[in-house]
Parts: sequence; C-alpha cells; structure tokens
Amino acid sequence: IDFFEDAKSIMIKNIPNKVLNLLRLLGTYGDDNKTPVYVVGGFVRDLFLGIKNFDIDLVVEGNGIEFARYASKQLGVKMVEHEKFLTASLFFKDGFRIDIATARTEYYDKPAELPKVDVSTIKKDLYRRDFTINAMAIKLNSGEFGTLYDFFGSRKDLENKIIRVLHKLSFIEDPTRIIRAVRFEQRFDFKIEDETLEILKETLEGNYLEKVTGQRIRQELEKIIKEKDPVKGIKRLAELKILMHIFPKTYFTTTMEKKLKNMLVSFDLLKNIYTKRNIFYAFLRILLEFYDMESLKNVEERYGIPKKFVDELKKTERRLIPVIEMIKTRIKFSDIYKVIGKPIFETATHIMAYLDDNNSREYFKKYLERVFSTKLNIKGNILKDKFNIKSSPEIGKIMNSIFCYKLDNPNINEMEKLKELLGGTIE
Ligand code: CTP
Repeated sequence: IDFFEDAKSIMIKNIPNKVLNLLRLLGTYGDDNKTPVYVVGGFVRDLFLGIKNFDIDLVVEGNGIEFARYASKQLGVKMVEHEKFLTASLFFKDGFRIDIATARTEYYDKPAELPKVDVSTIKKDLYRRDFTINAMAIKLNSGEFGTLYDFFGSRKDLENKIIRVLHKLSFIEDPTRIIRAVRFEQRFDFKIEDETLEILKETLEGNYLEKVTGQRIRQELEKIIKEKDPVKGIKRLAELKILMHIFPKTYFTTTMEKKLKNMLVSFDLLKNIYTKRNIFYAFLRILLEFYDMESLKNVEERYGIPKKFVDELKKTERRLIPVIEMIKTRIKFSDIYKVIGKPIFETATHIMAYLDDNNSREYFKKYLERVFSTKLNIKGNILKDKFNIKSSPEIGKIMNSIFCYKLDNPNINEMEKLKELLGGTIE
C-alpha cells in the first residue's frame, strides 16, 4: 500500500490562495528550523470532503514551541504558549488562528484521564487520534509540500463514508469519543463501522462515560447541539443508548423528538426578540423535563448546571399546561402576562416546544414582541404627586394594571385610563 500521495492539486483547487500561501510560508519556517511540519486533522479531512475549514492544526516533529516562536516572529503575530502540552497558538489580527503541536505519543496512567505526553513522530501522533478520517497529515516543508500521509486508510474511509477508530482502546482512552463518533456520523452522514460500533457499545456498557468529568461530556454535547441537525444527533445518541449514560432518567420518545423539533423552529422565530440566549440550556429544558428533584440535583452537579436553570425549569413545568391552553384559545395578552410575565429565552422556547401549529406559534411570538416593546410613559411618582397615593405596593399594583391594559390596547391614553381607574380626581 502506498501511504504517501501528492495532494497538491486538490489543495490548489480547494484552498483559497491566501491560506495556501500561508501554508507554504509555514513550510519554509520548518525548513529554516530543520523540522518537519504538517497540517493535520479536521483541516485535511475537510480538504478531501471539499468543505471550507480555516482551523489550521499543525504538528511539528521536533520542538513545536520553538517553531511557533520562530513563526510568530516571522509573521509578526501574537503567540500563546502552553509549555506543559508542548503546544502554542498563533493569533492573527483578523481573528485567524493556527494551533501548533509537537508530535507526540500519549500514554494514560488511568483510563478516562487526560493523557501524559511524550515527544514522538507524525505516525504515532496520528495513531493516537480519534478516528481514521481525522488522522491524516500533509507535509508543508518546501521539498515535500503537499505530500499526504495516510497510514491508516483514511481516504478509503472518507470515500466509503465510514467512522472508524484506529485501535481497540480508543474509546477507553478517551470515552468522549463515543459522543464525537455520533457527531461526525451525523454531520457528514457517515456510518460508524461495525467493529467500531461493537467497541463503542462495550465501552459504554463498561460505564466508561461515567468516569469522564461532566465538564468534558458537556463540551461534546454542546458541540452536538451546535451542529446543523441537533435533533438527529440527540436521537442517535438515544438510539445507541449513549444518552442514558449521560442523563440516566431521560427517555427519548417520539413526543420528545417532536418537542425538540418545535423548539428548533422557535430559535429562528425568536431570533430578533432575544439577544441573551443559551441554546444548550434550551435543549436541556426538554431533556430534563419532569425529572425528580434528586435526579435533577445529580445532573446539575455533574454538568455544572446553575441552580437558576433548575428553578426556571420547575417554574415553567408548573405553568406549562395552562399557558399552552391559553395560547391555543388565543386568550388576551394580559391574561398570559399574569401567568408568565416576561419569560427568558429558554422559557419562551420551552413553551414553543409544545406548540405544533404555526398560528399558535405566531400568536405567542406576537405576545413576546408586545410584552418586550410595551413601555409605560407615566411614572409611578405621578400617583404620589397627583393622586396622593403613598403606599408603594398600591402604586405597583396600579402601574401593573395599566401595563396589562396597554398590552391588550397598545394605543391607549395612559393618563385617561389612570383617571378612569382612580375615579377621575386630579389634585
Ligand atoms: N482529537 C482526538 N480525540 C479527541 C478530540 C480530538 O483524537 N477526543 C483529535 C482529532 O484528530 C481531531 C483533532 O484532535 O481532528 C482536533 O479536534 P477538534 O478540533 O475537536 O475536532 P476537528 O476534527 O477539528 O472537528 P471540527 O470540525 O468539529 O472542529
């Protein structure tokens, strides 16, 4: 088998000139330092898939940090070093970024812990990676610029649309790869290869996912949710019984799927209403719905979910049925307001998840627009000064009832309404 191939023509075809020139330049810096330098991982994968990817990961055989220092000086860009991992990052003014690593083999003291690092060669560096499709390198040094290093049949797997681990211990060494496998499968519409699927299941049944920190699981979940079709990803996690190792009390049903899909639609509907939004917490609203308090507490601690999330979730759960009913019967805005007030983004999408028809969604959207745009012109102290009302709770109550009235009748004369409400006596 030929491990090496000239990838220059596909690079010229698929990589913008600016990036291509930068890669050539980086290759000459490798020459200057007498160190082989490669572009690796997702960038190479996406090059062959014809997908735009400007996350450049470099691997240097030798001293990655020294190479990075040299490159940052030559290019005049900022650099951050991570001594412990033998890595560094270059930051360009336009936000462009290059990560530089030292070729390494990793060994694991214990499964599911972060690896220890040893300096090594490109082949070993690629072998420690998650899947074959992510384990290719292209050399950048001038003599060999564009030479593809494909030791593990990566291109074949790309062609056959297959997600495959490089060795049997891959999932045990890093159980978050279980979630990554699903993410790449869904993103590219690939299939997890049979033997890989077997190993995945064994690792799952060995409860290795439970040994990983909640923080790392959460990061991978957030990545799934940022993909184009997150519901498909979550569904697949459930199908492979991965979801129950993440959220033990979550049972994925067709109803849940429908709710998640409705929620997805609502993100788009609500995008101009909310600036503060957390898509991850929105999805969690559905995944963690109707949990008992103890299970919820466990999940909260494991994944670093704020107490506020739990409070808002429970509060919304209690109001859900009446609010849905009110929206469906097109009850007036002020009545909805009395139940949910001005909901945060996650609560609004949670309610939207229960609305299956477009007219109800539009009605609720109008409610939200109205509630956030309605402002009273009159101030509370007018009640003190002109109507001689001194008690703050009472002032609050009156202001609120005028606000409610204005929700239903945006064009009212507030002063007239006030007089009507208080018997028309101005002092
Ligand atoms: N990697 C790995 N095991 C992990 C995470 C990452 O082996 N648990 C390796 C893979 O080779 C991957 C590279 O590190 O290609 C970079 O990881 P990441 O940036 O997370 O993924 P990308 O492949 O770049 O994917 P994306 O397109 O989502 O950025």
